[in-house]
Amino acid sequence: MASNTLTITDNRTGKKYEVPITDGTIRATDLRQIKTDADDFGLMTYDPAFMNTAACRSAITFIDGDKGILEYRGYPIEQLAEKSTYLETAYLLLNGELPNNTQLAQWMHDVTYHTFINENLKGLLDAFRYNAHPMGKLIATVAALGTFYAEAKNISDVEGRRRQITRIVAKMITIAAFGYRHMVGQPYAYPDNDLSYSGNFLNMMFKTTETKYVPNPALERALDVLFILHADHEQNCSTNAMRAVGSSHVDPYSAVAAAAAALYGPLHGGANEEVIRMLTQIGSVSDVPAFIKKVKAGEGVRLMGFGHRVYKNYDPRARIIKQVAYEVFEVTGENPLLDLALELERIALQDDYFVKRKLYPNVDFYSGLIYQAMKFPMDMFPVLFAIPRVSGWLSQWEEMLQDPDQKIARPRQIFVGPHRRDYVPIAKR
Ligand code: CMC
Repeated sequence: MASNTLTITDNRTGKKYEVPITDGTIRATDLRQIKTDADDFGLMTYDPAFMNTAACRSAITFIDGDKGILEYRGYPIEQLAEKSTYLETAYLLLNGELPNNTQLAQWMHDVTYHTFINENLKGLLDAFRYNAHPMGKLIATVAALGTFYAEAKNISDVEGRRRQITRIVAKMITIAAFGYRHMVGQPYAYPDNDLSYSGNFLNMMFKTTETKYVPNPALERALDVLFILHADHEQNCSTNAMRAVGSSHVDPYSAVAAAAAALYGPLHGGANEEVIRMLTQIGSVSDVPAFIKKVKAGEGVRLMGFGHRVYKNYDPRARIIKQVAYEVFEVTGENPLLDLALELERIALQDDYFVKRKLYPNVDFYSGLIYQAMKFPMDMFPVLFAIPRVSGWLSQWEEMLQDPDQKIARPRQIFVGPHRRDYVPIAKR
């Protein structure tokens, strides 16, 4: 009868070991019993970049990369994008279930009434140079925000954690928008409690002299859908940073700042900006074939917004975003780069090079075009990613804190440096 175990023969010693298989994994610590002698530390696994290591058990986000499936708490991303709102989706991620009317009303009220930030934080923003990158300002401001809530350090207080989560989700739009206003030298626009989460963000970004800012409903909805699509994506680089830093039991503001720093990197949150740069560089539809040729020649040029570590079919978020792009362009007028993007996609999808390598458009291929059409400067693109991703980071943080398997994250290493040697006085080196 088949048994759920793995038998390992250590050819160094000829000994056999049997380790249990659970959920398609073996426990790395089970390998430690495999030793050559009593002094041996025991066998470890070597897995830089966690290519094949599950670092947690999670019930939040499910991805099947081969089939192009993305689900939050079991709900398909397509259904959430069509029927839900970002705040409802954030509630789902954080609590595991969709809210009822009362729960949703309370959550929306709480988030809305926590959007104001302490006035001292404006002083912090003012200290930055006019051309400071908004993502750098976001990271610093979120970290600084934690100093206003000393009780946030008490991460074992369940109610307290909930309060900090509400504050962070709420204040992200204010911090992000204030960072933008500082960049363009405009006075800060304050939150308006009559508006939705996305509408309020647009208000704080773009309000000028009008007494009351009225967001365009199509753009407000488009932004909300983009927020839903970016809310979580299981164990990616920034989420891993959130969990690793949070595992030291630091306050959630510091952990979110660390996660945002991970997101700032061009390999993670910066690809949509690269797509715009690439399209601008290509210049015109007639230059697309020559560009594709360069990509295929492997001259260090990649088709940005294509390919994914996990999705080897179509990134389901890309399909939704393409649809949203058309809805936004109805209002803003077409982004002149759209034709170029469509031609690139058309050629790539029928080209053997891309088909063979399973390279399809990812979430970033069209999102930059939408943001640009909505008048967000490119430097704001990673900030727009970070705003909704905090709900994912905080859900994963909560789950990590409640998981009895979790401890402070502390990987092992294979030491390859010199072993003990005596100090040499500087005159003798
Ligand atoms: N353009 C041209 N060739 C590509 C591309 C691309 N965008 N992506 C992968 N390849 C080729 C690559 O050269 C390699 O070819 P070969 O086997 O001949 O050496 C093969 O496809 C496998 O690539 P890989 O680099 O081993 O794949 P990976 O899983 O490590 O990389 C990726 C995934 C997303 C980093 C990569 O596809 C890429 O650099 N894409 C462009 C950047 C981008 O759009 N990033 C956004 C990712 S979605 C955002 C998110 O979910 O956080």
